[in-house]
Amino acid sequence: MKKLRTNSADWSALMPVLPGEGPRTRELYAAIRRLIEGGQAPSGTKLPTTRDLAARLGVSRAAAVAAFELLVADGFAEARVGAGTFVAPQVPALAPVSREVPPMAAPSPPLPCELGVATMDEKTMRIFRRLLSRSLARPGPEHFHYGDARGTRALRDAIAAYLRTARGVRCDPEQIIVTTGTMHGMDLVVRSVIRPGDAAWIEDPCYGKARTILKAAGARLVGVPVDGEGIDPAQGTIACSKARLAYVTPSHQFPLGVAMSMRRRLALLEWARRNDGWIIEDDYDSEFRFSGPPLACLQGMDDGDRVAYLGTFSKVLFPGMRIGYAVVPRALLAAVLRLRIQSDRQPPTLAQGAIADFLDQGHFAAHLRRVRRRVQSARDRLVAGLRRGGLEVDVPEQGLHLVAGLPSSFDDRALAIAAREADVGALPLSPLHVDAPQRQGLILGFSGFDGEVLAEAAERLCRLL
Ligand SMILES: Cc1ncc(COP(=O)(O)O)c(C=O)c1O
Repeated sequence: MKKLRTNSADWSALMPVLPGEGPRTRELYAAIRRLIEGGQAPSGTKLPTTRDLAARLGVSRAAAVAAFELLVADGFAEARVGAGTFVAPQVPALAPVSREVPPMAAPSPPLPCELGVATMDEKTMRIFRRLLSRSLARPGPEHFHYGDARGTRALRDAIAAYLRTARGVRCDPEQIIVTTGTMHGMDLVVRSVIRPGDAAWIEDPCYGKARTILKAAGARLVGVPVDGEGIDPAQGTIACSKARLAYVTPSHQFPLGVAMSMRRRLALLEWARRNDGWIIEDDYDSEFRFSGPPLACLQGMDDGDRVAYLGTFSKVLFPGMRIGYAVVPRALLAAVLRLRIQSDRQPPTLAQGAIADFLDQGHFAAHLRRVRRRVQSARDRLVAGLRRGGLEVDVPEQGLHLVAGLPSSFDDRALAIAAREADVGALPLSPLHVDAPQRQGLILGFSGFDGEVLAEAAERLCRLL
């Protein structure tokens, strides 16, 4: 186990990114406590000075002092006058601090370049206001009793029509389950097929929440490297051919942004067919394609009904809707529905009604055109700002984020912390790796912010680098 050397860079290197805004006393307290409880900072180790720690981690001195006071109060450290603060001789056995920061700690409002921010469109909001108030003024009977656990027929019909034409999905409305977002759909499918100990392929690097869901279901994660053609099923087969499931983002790999090549798609489908494996296709931001031909989805190429297709309105409308959908292979439908009924019974009827009307009345295509234009222009401002500052970045043809790769001598976690202090919501790339050697980089979102705000954020970030 890596032990700490006092006043060396190890302290900050071993700290996870401290999320959130403001003083972040609790996060710093939790990070140091984990090092103590994990044995990396054994009894008697001298803690760095609060000044040193604050400077290294980019938090305020007051936050570092308050975190130390908490550590002392809880018995993890002791202050010796004139000598400094030391890890206590006997560390108390308290309930562990959570590794995940509770969602309440999420910054509000988000920092420029933060991921997961939708682009608000005034016209779309006006339409939704009208649709929702009409529904409330003349409420239909569906709001007053429990309905179909898959969601309303009207919304499932509308989604099926959209997916068939826009994404090439093979589906009928019977297979569609309206969810509270992609990750809800993923959780239902994963729990339907994974038994503890089953192997699951996951792209390496990967979407962190997908990794959490697989782990929570007891899956043994097999990181399959992503290169310029996406995930490589040949590598997955070498690592573990008998995996039960593969989670992929073929249209736009998260986080690296590559599209999976046709030969890899065919190879992945062939692997699933031969091994009775399941594929989860997360198509989270395919609506935002800026140039080049639209990429058809993997599910539409599958003759064997082995692909569960997940989509969401979080990106294309806004995450507050909490509406997504899963197109579930017929063989899994009953199991997935059973879990859905157990967990949250059915999706909310009011939001479903508004989205179904939005799609049926033809507003969606116009909304997409408006929002796509704005996101594209924001992307261009961010890219231009980064390039002006000397960073080499590719212009993404799709999606809502880009990755600024960094030389391996950089520490992207420390940089992300420093970027936050400079009001830039960059996410470090290296922690998203599973087994592959960690690449350093910063993930930057360009949706939901004005071009000017992003250009200024790019300038601050480049100054930092
Ligand atoms: C890879 C990936 N999948 C899915 C989602 C969306 O999740 P949800 O639909 O649960 O909001 C995101 C959002 O950031 C994402 O990055």
